[in-house]
Amino acid sequence: MTLDEMTKLLTLNAYAKLNIGLRVLGLRKDGFHELHTHMHTIDLCDELTFQKTKSSVEIDIVPVTDIPLEKNLIYKAIRLFQQKSKIDQNVQCKLTKVIPMGAGLGGGSSDAAATLVALNQLFDTNYSNNTLAEWGAGLGSDIPFFIEGGFACAKGRGEILRTLDSPYQDHTFVVIIPSIECSTPEVFKAWDEFADSMSIHDVSCEQMDSQNDLQASACRRYPKLKAYEKLIQSAPTNLKGMSGSGSSWYVGFTNEREAKAYQTQLQSLQLEAHIHCVKAITTTKE
Ligand code: C5P
Repeated sequence: MTLDEMTKLLTLNAYAKLNIGLRVLGLRKDGFHELHTHMHTIDLCDELTFQKTKSSVEIDIVPVTDIPLEKNLIYKAIRLFQQKSKIDQNVQCKLTKVIPMGAGLGGGSSDAAATLVALNQLFDTNYSNNTLAEWGAGLGSDIPFFIEGGFACAKGRGEILRTLDSPYQDHTFVVIIPSIECSTPEVFKAWDEFADSMSIHDVSCEQMDSQNDLQASACRRYPKLKAYEKLIQSAPTNLKGMSGSGSSWYVGFTNEREAKAYQTQLQSLQLEAHIHCVKAITTTKE
């Protein structure tokens, strides 16, 4: 995070995550699902720049999208911060969007978390990360994770976190992002309709593997995903799966050269997908 003293522009990155293993443990009374998942920050990121303004809140997104301002999670995070801190000055934000929406990589949640962190710095309010995470949980289940990032076990709706030592620090992940936008509520709805209650079971943190209980529901709701499920079945490592509620898939390598070779191999298939080679990172402090 950097603050330019001349222009008073605060710039920071909002990193994506991978869910390396996700268990759905049932539908709760509040409509959410009880989860157990492991999340890891990766170095694929959006860039956000904030500046105080005397006029109204503005969010300038590159490339341009047609999401109404009030629906944007950055806007909601700005309003939440103003309401909690009782600061009514507005801010302008420029967002350079790299993490696609509906990809299961947490792009929108990461932008919202970065907004809370940025405003805390811009207004010198000194709220703790715990406080920002508590506020963020009201906006989205995985926003608390993005306040600090790294590697964590998440339970509850996804907001109850325990930081873990990462076994993936030296790993390179090939991330395949199909041009399919998955709606998280729709994928959970498909899980409600088709999950076999006999197959619901939790594992200990130590036993968590890359199985994702939302994978079958996502493939049922978005049948085009099945081609990617098949594709990664033949990937040359066992560390592989779907992230979140889709549509992205990852294949993890301990050797960067092998990861790059796999990326090149996938690129030659002319898939309707973006294929990135990324590092798992444990700190998002720049
Ligand atoms: O919390 P968030 O806004 O990211 O959740 C989006 C939607 O995903 C929820 O409205 C709900 O339908 C579904 N969801 C869920 N259980 C969770 C997290 C999300 O059912 N633990």
